[in-house]
Amino acid sequence: MRSRIVAIIFACITLILSFAARADGDIAKGKVLSQTCLGCHGIADYTNVYPTYRVPKLAGQNAAYIVHALQEYKSGARSHQTMHAQASSLSLQQMQDIAAYFQSLGSPGQH
Ligand code: HEC
Repeated sequence: MRSRIVAIIFACITLILSFAARADGDIAKGKVLSQTCLGCHGIADYTNVYPTYRVPKLAGQNAAYIVHALQEYKSGARSHQTMHAQASSLSLQQMQDIAAYFQSLGSPGQH
Protein backbone atom coordinates (compact mmCIF):
# COMPACT_ATOMS: atom_id res chain seq x y z
CA MET A 1 0.00 0.00 0.00
CA ARG A 2 2.70 2.41 1.02
CA SER A 3 4.78 1.60 -2.07
CA ARG A 4 1.77 2.40 -4.23
CA ILE A 5 1.52 5.83 -2.65
CA VAL A 6 5.23 6.37 -3.24
CA ALA A 7 4.77 5.29 -6.85
CA ILE A 8 1.91 7.74 -7.29
CA ILE A 9 3.94 10.56 -5.79
CA PHE A 10 6.81 9.72 -8.11
CA ALA A 11 4.48 9.71 -11.09
CA CYS A 12 3.24 13.15 -10.12
CA ILE A 13 6.75 14.54 -9.73
CA THR A 14 7.76 13.11 -13.11
CA LEU A 15 4.70 14.65 -14.68
CA ILE A 16 5.44 18.05 -13.16
CA LEU A 17 9.07 17.90 -14.23
CA SER A 18 8.24 16.92 -17.79
CA PHE A 19 5.69 19.72 -17.93
CA ALA A 20 8.28 22.20 -16.65
CA ALA A 21 10.72 21.02 -19.31
CA ARG A 22 8.17 21.46 -22.06
CA ALA A 23 7.37 24.94 -20.82
CA ASP A 24 10.86 25.98 -21.85
CA GLY A 25 10.78 28.05 -24.98
CA ASP A 26 13.55 28.86 -27.40
CA ILE A 27 14.50 32.52 -26.87
CA ALA A 28 16.18 32.92 -30.27
CA LYS A 29 13.14 31.59 -32.13
CA GLY A 30 10.86 33.66 -29.94
CA LYS A 31 12.73 36.83 -30.82
CA VAL A 32 12.05 36.25 -34.52
CA LEU A 33 8.41 35.29 -33.92
CA SER A 34 7.74 38.27 -31.70
CA GLN A 35 8.56 40.87 -34.34
CA THR A 36 4.86 41.09 -35.27
CA CYS A 37 3.93 41.56 -31.63
CA LEU A 38 6.28 44.46 -31.09
CA GLY A 39 4.31 46.69 -33.44
CA CYS A 40 1.75 46.90 -30.67
CA HIS A 41 3.58 45.63 -27.62
CA GLY A 42 6.42 48.03 -28.37
CA ILE A 43 9.06 47.98 -25.69
CA ALA A 44 9.65 51.74 -25.48
CA ASP A 45 6.66 53.09 -23.58
CA TYR A 46 4.21 50.27 -24.18
CA THR A 47 1.86 52.09 -26.47
CA ASN A 48 1.28 51.21 -30.09
CA VAL A 49 1.77 53.76 -32.84
CA TYR A 50 -1.62 54.59 -34.26
CA PRO A 51 -4.22 54.95 -32.95
CA THR A 52 -2.38 55.38 -29.71
CA TYR A 53 -3.69 53.13 -27.02
CA ARG A 54 -1.97 51.36 -24.23
CA VAL A 55 -1.23 47.68 -24.55
CA PRO A 56 -0.13 45.39 -21.73
CA LYS A 57 3.57 45.30 -21.04
CA LEU A 58 5.14 42.00 -22.07
CA ALA A 59 8.84 42.59 -21.42
CA GLY A 60 9.79 40.74 -18.28
CA GLN A 61 6.36 39.15 -17.97
CA ASN A 62 6.35 35.61 -16.63
CA ALA A 63 6.57 33.14 -19.53
CA ALA A 64 3.92 30.82 -18.14
CA TYR A 65 1.54 33.77 -17.84
CA ILE A 66 2.11 34.80 -21.46
CA VAL A 67 1.54 31.26 -22.76
CA HIS A 68 -1.60 30.96 -20.67
CA ALA A 69 -2.93 34.31 -21.88
CA LEU A 70 -2.26 33.41 -25.53
CA GLN A 71 -4.04 30.07 -25.14
CA GLU A 72 -7.02 31.87 -23.69
CA TYR A 73 -7.12 34.36 -26.54
CA LYS A 74 -6.84 31.46 -29.01
CA SER A 75 -9.63 29.44 -27.38
CA GLY A 76 -11.82 32.48 -26.91
CA ALA A 77 -11.78 32.23 -23.10
CA ARG A 78 -10.39 35.76 -23.25
CA SER A 79 -12.21 37.77 -25.81
CA HIS A 80 -10.24 40.34 -27.73
CA GLN A 81 -10.51 40.34 -31.49
CA THR A 82 -6.99 41.49 -32.26
CA MET A 83 -5.30 39.15 -29.85
CA HIS A 84 -7.54 36.27 -30.92
CA ALA A 85 -6.32 36.80 -34.46
CA GLN A 86 -2.71 36.94 -33.27
CA ALA A 87 -2.91 33.90 -31.03
CA SER A 88 -4.89 31.75 -33.47
CA SER A 89 -1.94 31.42 -35.81
CA LEU A 90 0.45 30.29 -33.09
CA SER A 91 1.24 26.73 -32.05
CA LEU A 92 1.90 25.95 -28.40
CA GLN A 93 5.63 25.69 -29.12
CA GLN A 94 5.64 29.11 -30.81
CA MET A 95 3.79 30.60 -27.83
CA GLN A 96 6.43 29.13 -25.52
CA ASP A 97 9.26 30.50 -27.66
CA ILE A 98 7.72 33.98 -27.71
CA ALA A 99 7.02 33.84 -23.99
CA ALA A 100 10.62 32.83 -23.24
CA TYR A 101 11.86 35.76 -25.29
CA PHE A 102 9.63 38.34 -23.58
CA GLN A 103 10.49 36.96 -20.16
CA SER A 104 14.20 37.16 -20.99
CA LEU A 105 13.88 40.90 -21.63
CA GLY A 106 13.44 41.43 -17.91
CA SER A 107 11.70 44.36 -16.34
CA PRO A 108 12.86 47.76 -17.65
CA GLY A 109 13.46 48.90 -14.10
CA GLN A 110 16.09 46.20 -13.60
CA HIS A 111 18.52 47.30 -16.30
C1 HEC B 1 -2.59 45.07 -33.29
C2 HEC B 1 -1.99 45.19 -31.96
C3 HEC B 1 -1.44 43.94 -31.28
C4 HEC B 1 -0.60 42.99 -31.80
C5 HEC B 1 0.02 42.93 -33.21
C6 HEC B 1 -0.35 42.03 -30.73
N1 HEC B 1 -1.03 42.40 -29.61
FE1 HEC B 1 -1.05 41.38 -27.82
N2 HEC B 1 -2.42 42.69 -27.07
C7 HEC B 1 -2.90 43.81 -27.74
C8 HEC B 1 -3.91 44.45 -26.90
C9 HEC B 1 -4.70 45.72 -27.25
C10 HEC B 1 -4.01 43.67 -25.72
C11 HEC B 1 -4.96 43.87 -24.53
C12 HEC B 1 -6.16 42.99 -24.83
C13 HEC B 1 -7.12 42.83 -23.69
O1 HEC B 1 -7.56 43.84 -23.15
O2 HEC B 1 -7.41 41.66 -23.36
C14 HEC B 1 -3.04 42.58 -25.86
C15 HEC B 1 -2.81 41.61 -24.89
C16 HEC B 1 -1.82 40.65 -24.95
C17 HEC B 1 -1.47 39.74 -23.88
C18 HEC B 1 -2.10 39.69 -22.49
C19 HEC B 1 -1.23 40.50 -21.56
C20 HEC B 1 -1.75 40.61 -20.16
O3 HEC B 1 -1.08 41.29 -19.35
O4 HEC B 1 -2.79 40.02 -19.83
C21 HEC B 1 -0.45 38.96 -24.33
C22 HEC B 1 0.26 37.85 -23.57
C23 HEC B 1 -0.18 39.37 -25.69
N3 HEC B 1 -1.02 40.41 -26.03
C24 HEC B 1 0.78 38.80 -26.49
C25 HEC B 1 0.98 39.12 -27.84
C26 HEC B 1 1.86 38.40 -28.70
C27 HEC B 1 2.75 37.23 -28.26
C28 HEC B 1 1.77 38.97 -29.94
C29 HEC B 1 2.45 38.54 -31.23
C30 HEC B 1 2.22 37.18 -31.66
C31 HEC B 1 0.81 40.07 -29.83
N4 HEC B 1 0.35 40.12 -28.54
C32 HEC B 1 0.46 40.92 -30.86
C33 HEC B 1 -2.51 44.25 -28.99
C34 HEC B 1 -1.71 43.56 -29.88
